[in-house]
Amino acid sequence: MSTSVIIPAAGFGERMGAAIGKQFLSLAGKPIIVHTIEQFQRSAAIDEIVIAAREESFATLRTIIDGFGLTKVRPLVKGGVRRQDSVANALAALDTGCDIVLVHDAVRPFISQETIAQAVDAARFFGAAIVAVRAKDTIKQAGTDGRVERTLDRSFLWNVQTPQAFQLSVLRDAYARAASDGVAATDDSSLVERIGIAPVIVEGSYDNIKITTPEDLLLGELLAKQYA
Ligand code: CTP
Ligand code: MG
Repeated sequence: MSTSVIIPAAGFGERMGAAIGKQFLSLAGKPIIVHTIEQFQRSAAIDEIVIAAREESFATLRTIIDGFGLTKVRPLVKGGVRRQDSVANALAALDTGCDIVLVHDAVRPFISQETIAQAVDAARFFGAAIVAVRAKDTIKQAGTDGRVERTLDRSFLWNVQTPQAFQLSVLRDAYARAASDGVAATDDSSLVERIGIAPVIVEGSYDNIKITTPEDLLLGELLAKQYA
């Protein structure tokens, strides 16, 4: 049995506002997506890497994959309109022997070897696992009128990241049910939660940022230097 990671990389990076998709922007001398793929290429816990991308990026990606020797990457899969559609397309293309699947954003280049291994182990044991960090800020719920309704108890709150890791049958069931119910969600865990499975939390690192807006690139350069 084998472990696969799906890397959705079909976004436009609207909030970054760059001329190219942010996954292809350079960070410490190489494209962000290369940093990300290299972590899974290096990991003994990962057998294959399936990337969902827009068709117009296929040629660029193939050049990158060959040029950086990323041998675990399987044939590219077409992305969809939403992240959820990109992941669904990749799920349909997984190796038949796969039993554990991770989903990891192309734009989280600072994922550690330790966290990848812990997520895989937790998914194997518990069926579903998500990487998260404890909320640093106090978080309040407000109404549409902009007035605070209540203060949430921070000791129970987590900021969720990727990877999120699952037994393949669990994620496939969750995606099938979301499709038939017409449900959209911003992370994979939400789809699994709604079929009655509670993922376990693997405590990760604050370094595992998602490169979303221009400030994240500045922080990313600092983090890349620290690990170089
Ligand atoms: N993604 C994807 N398919 C989509 C949308 C997003 O594969 N239709 C991927 C992105 O490429 C990224 C990950 O999902 O690796 C997380 O999404 P996000 O940070 O929102 O990236 P973008 O959608 O590119 O950015 P924005 O929302 O600012 O446009
Ligand atoms: Mg997006």
